[in-house]
Amino acid sequence: MIISSIRDSVLQAVAEVAGTPNGTILLHEPYFPEQAWTYVKECLDTRWVSSAGKYVSEFEQRLAVITGAKRAVAVVNGTAALQVSLILAGVHRDEEVICPALTFVATTNAISHCGAVPHFVDVCENRLAISPLALENRLQEIASRAGDRVFNRETGRRIGAVCVMHCFGHPADLDSLAEVCNRYGLPLIEDAAESLGSYYKGRHTGRHGQLAAVSFNGNKIVTTGGGGAILTDRDDLADRAKHLTTTAKQPHPWQFNHDAVAWNYRLPNLNAALGLAQLEVMDKLLVAKRDLAHRYEQAFARLECGKFLKEPADSQSNYWLNALILHPELADYQEELLEALNKKGFQSRPLWTPMHHLPMYGDCPQGELSITDSLFRRVINIPSSATLLLK
Ligand SMILES: Cc1ncc(COP(=O)(O)O)c(C=O)c1O
Repeated sequence: MIISSIRDSVLQAVAEVAGTPNGTILLHEPYFPEQAWTYVKECLDTRWVSSAGKYVSEFEQRLAVITGAKRAVAVVNGTAALQVSLILAGVHRDEEVICPALTFVATTNAISHCGAVPHFVDVCENRLAISPLALENRLQEIASRAGDRVFNRETGRRIGAVCVMHCFGHPADLDSLAEVCNRYGLPLIEDAAESLGSYYKGRHTGRHGQLAAVSFNGNKIVTTGGGGAILTDRDDLADRAKHLTTTAKQPHPWQFNHDAVAWNYRLPNLNAALGLAQLEVMDKLLVAKRDLAHRYEQAFARLECGKFLKEPADSQSNYWLNALILHPELADYQEELLEALNKKGFQSRPLWTPMHHLPMYGDCPQGELSITDSLFRRVINIPSSATLLLK
């Protein structure tokens, strides 16, 4: 195949769906309904902009209803939500947490912030999330059990948890992963930062392990400017999460007593107000995202250079970021295509550099990572905003 014809066909397919850029069509931009202005203004008018105010609990309650989780605890960002989730799942300093090498660096940073060590396993090509087979193979290779604890016999460290990530909103194979985790007695934690509005077998992502983290960063489907949340069905874990993320202050109208070394990770009222307005119209955003993905799927069906990443058959994806996956023999053209797309005004990007190639994580324990390495050279994310269809 000739690069110029590949480039032209990709540009044409993207333009057909995203339109002709007048400037730059962003990879993902937020959608703010009318109510956003009303709610944020109310925070300003009432002076409740910071760590107290009604919007934090309204945001948490709405999030719990949307996801079906019993409790949602709002925090400053998804990284903090994941760090606290891991700690509450029982991860300690100098333990290992198994996670995908194909993820945004925040997953591994959250593990490191617990004082733990990420341990990388490979993903599967159709979901881009941890492969249950890779997890099973890796555990067979390195795991040894002592009572109800699991150790990496190569490093001597305890394995504290498995952290799965739903890449671009496409749910991981949660049943198969949970089955492996249960057999080894390992807690399953979901990095659901990208998957608000995504369902695996009819159940919202973030509801398949003990705890999950969601992100409301500026590039997500719903944004609070910066923000995150911990989801759980256990009241005791939610209460502890709330306590630890609000400086472990004991309730009292004027005294300041704290009973643990904790964090100030609480989401400000101002941010919660902005997020609540979007949660109220989330269904509309999800419909637009699915419609956009469907249009890309049709436009890309004609392409010979690769395939559009579709939601797994057992899942409903929020299609956070749409992705084209080049055929393996065309991986060398990825850079040229990215350049052409960006030059034309379609903000596009490759996958995150896999974790085992980053200087601070290169020496971490790892299994065989060939699918991660191959996908890194072949994935191209293209403009995915709901605003492309919602004006
Ligand atoms: C997979 C993944 N994990 C964690 C995070 C961290 O979220 P935040 O940026 O809100 O800290 C993000 C997104 O930003 C993400 O994409």
